[in-house]
Amino acid sequence: MTIRSNPIGVFDSGMGGLTCVRQLVKLLPTEDIVYLGDTARVPYGNKSPNTIIKFSIQNSLYLLRFKIKLIVVACNTSSSFALDKLKTIFGIPIIGVIEPGVKRALELTKNKRIGIIGTNATINSLAYQKKLIAAGSAVKVFAQSCPLFVPLAEEGWIRGRITEDIAKKYLAPLKNKNIDTLVLGCTHYPLLKSAIAKVMGRSIRLVDSAEELALDVKALMRSKGIASDRKIKGKIRFFLTDEPYKFKKTGERFLGRKLESVYPVKENEF
Ligand code: DGL
Repeated sequence: MTIRSNPIGVFDSGMGGLTCVRQLVKLLPTEDIVYLGDTARVPYGNKSPNTIIKFSIQNSLYLLRFKIKLIVVACNTSSSFALDKLKTIFGIPIIGVIEPGVKRALELTKNKRIGIIGTNATINSLAYQKKLIAAGSAVKVFAQSCPLFVPLAEEGWIRGRITEDIAKKYLAPLKNKNIDTLVLGCTHYPLLKSAIAKVMGRSIRLVDSAEELALDVKALMRSKGIASDRKIKGKIRFFLTDEPYKFKKTGERFLGRKLESVYPVKENEF
């Protein structure tokens, strides 16, 4: 067995990171994946930077028990605050969701006016805004937090009048900014894509960070020579810091298929 057959570790504050797992499985079907959802402490989106960094370090340490070859920080909030710190602590490749989303937005925009939506913490961190602006002074960024999108996605209220009304209220400040590209800077927002597109207008390009992330993970593993060379389908295991009941029920919507191999994290291991 070589490092190529070791699993990819993915963590998120809860079930939202399954949108990333969905894309990873689509693009890299022969990879094993170990997913950690910190369901006992979700949401991260309204917590302080120090708490988010502490939780992200603990999550990474837990994943390292599985001899993972790479860490995917699927949570936008963790990626905003903790990615640099994790990279200085751990000696394996680590990839977050911000850079892939930024790269794609810059490829898509024609008028260089880009919107970004995310949790309060992600928007306040300015992580997306700084990276977008660093790419070129001509880029104008307009940011908006949409905290109610997370519970809406988890409840399965992904379209319909109430969801569209909430989306209208949150997105109103972005409507008159003449943006042509909008980054969905939160794990949950791809589920609300159709409501967001309806409010913003079909001509606005929506950037799903999860899709871009999977492409970057593939490229990174190739460049490091650690991509799986097996022919068989990979195994996915899900570990949760809280009871798996709700995760199993709602997570299928995020993953787009049945959830199997779901386990609670053992208390003495976390
Ligand atoms: N996973 C988080 C993110 O992408 C959303 C949920 C939370 O607030 O923890 O920012």
